[in-house]
Amino acid sequence: MKVLVTGGAGYIGSHVVRLLQQRGDQVLVLDDMSAGVPARIGDAVAHHLDLAAPGAHDALVSILRNDVDAVIHLAARKKVGESVELPEWYYAQNVGGLATLLSAMRDTSVNRLVFSSSAATYGMPDVPAVTEDTPCAPINPYGETKLVGEWMVADAARAWGLRAANLRYFNVAGAGWPDLADTAVANLIPIVFAALKANTVPIVFGNDYPTPDGSCVRDYVHVLDLADAHLSALSYLDREDRPHSTFNVGTGTGSSVFEVLAEVARVTGVDFTPDIQDRRAGDPPYLAADVTRIRETLGWSATKTLHDIVDSAWSAIQ
Ligand SMILES: NC(=O)c1ccc[n+]([C@@H]2O[C@H](COP(=O)([O-])OP(=O)(O)OC[C@H]3O[C@@H](n4cnc5c(N)ncnc54)[C@H](O)[C@@H]3O)[C@@H](O)[C@H]2O)c1
Repeated sequence: MKVLVTGGAGYIGSHVVRLLQQRGDQVLVLDDMSAGVPARIGDAVAHHLDLAAPGAHDALVSILRNDVDAVIHLAARKKVGESVELPEWYYAQNVGGLATLLSAMRDTSVNRLVFSSSAATYGMPDVPAVTEDTPCAPINPYGETKLVGEWMVADAARAWGLRAANLRYFNVAGAGWPDLADTAVANLIPIVFAALKANTVPIVFGNDYPTPDGSCVRDYVHVLDLADAHLSALSYLDREDRPHSTFNVGTGTGSSVFEVLAEVARVTGVDFTPDIQDRRAGDPPYLAADVTRIRETLGWSATKTLHDIVDSAWSAIQ
């Protein structure tokens, strides 16, 4: 099959591209390279395009006319703090970019879409594990753009028969291949590695949460497992019975910040005592996935452990 991967030069997108190529699919990559790394995509056909720029619709139409069967849409701005500072730009980029993509897909009758959504759509849930039916209440513009994106996808399904799956990723980490490592120092594991490499002490924000060890609990999913979930979602879109369109992608097991730090110490061999600081605003105590739906409907489950995640991420930056 021929698949267009938007954001394919990014951290997660490049893993999706490589898995598709390994199973023999033809892959086209679309990326504006604002955060993408050209070397990650090797010899895949690459289109350098900002989805939110004027003229993107027509450029997309001509790309999709190359017999594209399906689109995996990962291209988005994803910095929560930046989205609070620049909400209009985040809406223009993430919502505007998706609107342009959907319009071009409709105009070319490309009717299969896997959309990168996020656990940020849930906001501050007060349950240890969220199901897809847990009410969404995002607390920042980034999460809002993802929720609006899901609504747009649902509207396109109703209006013109788009077949779509929204994947709500939890905390993505690790590396499937060393050359595809996460180069942004934005999530816990890369931040801790950066601190250790700089001979500083990692910071823990809050040790008095109502969790077993007092630190926040998150669901860390290996990027290779996550990439594989996109392949399962593509197969699902071919089915006539599709009872659901939104799926949590996580392991179903939460790990606390202290558990992650202990794994980092084991993997790196560096003995450190973190600096405990006050809680940050907007951090829920728990954010972990109930993964029943994706397991039962797509037949997908995560296979990798927290150790695999930390170990692969550390090896990739040596
Ligand atoms: N990394 C995570 O933990 C996480 C969690 C939940 C959801 N997501 C979502 O997964 C997707 C991929 O995330 P990632 O971690 O690989 O980020 P990334 O920044 O590495 O990848 C995003 C890619 O999209 C490209 N891009 C951004 N805006 C674009 C635009 N307007 N037009 C064309 N290309 C554009 C960037 O250049 C980059 O290569 C995003 O949609 C993100 O919101 C990521």
